[in-house]
Amino acid sequence: IHTPRVFSGIQPSGNLTLGNYLGALKRFVEMQESDIETLYCVVDMHAITVWQDPADLRHNTREVTAAYIACGLDPAKSILFNQSQVPAHAQLAWIFNCTARIGWMNRMTQFKDKAGKNAEKSSLGLLAYPALMAADILIYQATHVPVGEDQKQHLELARDIAAKFNHDFDTDFFPSPDPLIDGEATRVMSLRDGTKKMSKSDPSDQSRITLRDDADTIAKKIRKAKTDPEPLPETLKELEGRPEARNLVNIYAALSGRTAESVIAEFSGQQFGQFKPALAELAVDHLAPITQEMNRLMADPAEIDRVLGNGADRAAAIAEPILDKTYDIVGM
Ligand code: ADP
Ligand code: NA
Repeated sequence: IHTPRVFSGIQPSGNLTLGNYLGALKRFVEMQESDIETLYCVVDMHAITVWQDPADLRHNTREVTAAYIACGLDPAKSILFNQSQVPAHAQLAWIFNCTARIGWMNRMTQFKDKAGKNAEKSSLGLLAYPALMAADILIYQATHVPVGEDQKQHLELARDIAAKFNHDFDTDFFPSPDPLIDGEATRVMSLRDGTKKMSKSDPSDQSRITLRDDADTIAKKIRKAKTDPEPLPETLKELEGRPEARNLVNIYAALSGRTAESVIAEFSGQQFGQFKPALAELAVDHLAPITQEMNRLMADPAEIDRVLGNGADRAAAIAEPILDKTYDIVGM
């Protein structure tokens, strides 16, 4: 009964990584080319669940927008906007705060990771984050959400919230949104430690490739990436227990649009001394034009703000009737 609609978002918390590119941005562009309506948001209200310097936040909001456009999102084909400019997100999030249970939030592994030992001192917003994320999706009655593997648990919680709301109010108003976690790089790992995800917030900037790195920096980070002394084997199965090697093969596959199997077949028997330069060249070929286009767009912040303002109007036009109907269902 719900028309297919795609929603996803990225936090403006700085340092967009190759993980964000392969797990999210690149796939957002693929979805745009289908005939399903696509909405992509810069989720600044999520970013402030941990401290953000106001000037950095403003800059990073524009930078994520620039990355969206530089990667190939077209503001005429997709609705590109900033979360805080569409108040219905926060309004629905409050209702979902009253639908979700504290116990559900306490089980979220990302909260545990981000809050660390100091959970009592973290913001209430960090705990409630998944209810806001559910609202981001469901305020558009979105049915499909392209995300990386790390968001799987939050998506399950969004489905639980939709189901509980529908049950509590005896309605089928909200769809059960499907996570789209596809491709060869749904979880890009750190270049320094194959057991940790590549992240904006890792203290070592050698652990990640970012969309602001120049060609030399990318090549150097790949050359220095942690690996092991064995050559590449003949099958993927033989990469078990070699997470760093597996990660580089996955990155190669995702960047080239091939399967990891075909990459391993091509490079089997080769040492990392041969594979890494090939990977570096591929990464630079992909990322350099994006970086260049981001820099060009960032030189005109007024134009970026205009895109966001326009996107917010279009997003609000979808969200507001859905919020009105939700209030009506709740009795408000
Ligand atoms: P981050 O996790 O880098 O702080 P966000 O939470 O804003 O960034 O995530 C934006 C999108 O990028 C999400 O869909 C997330 O799953 C995806 N993503 C983030 N890191 C990775 C990674 N290392 N590999 C694959 N996808 C990732
Ligand atoms: Na994330």
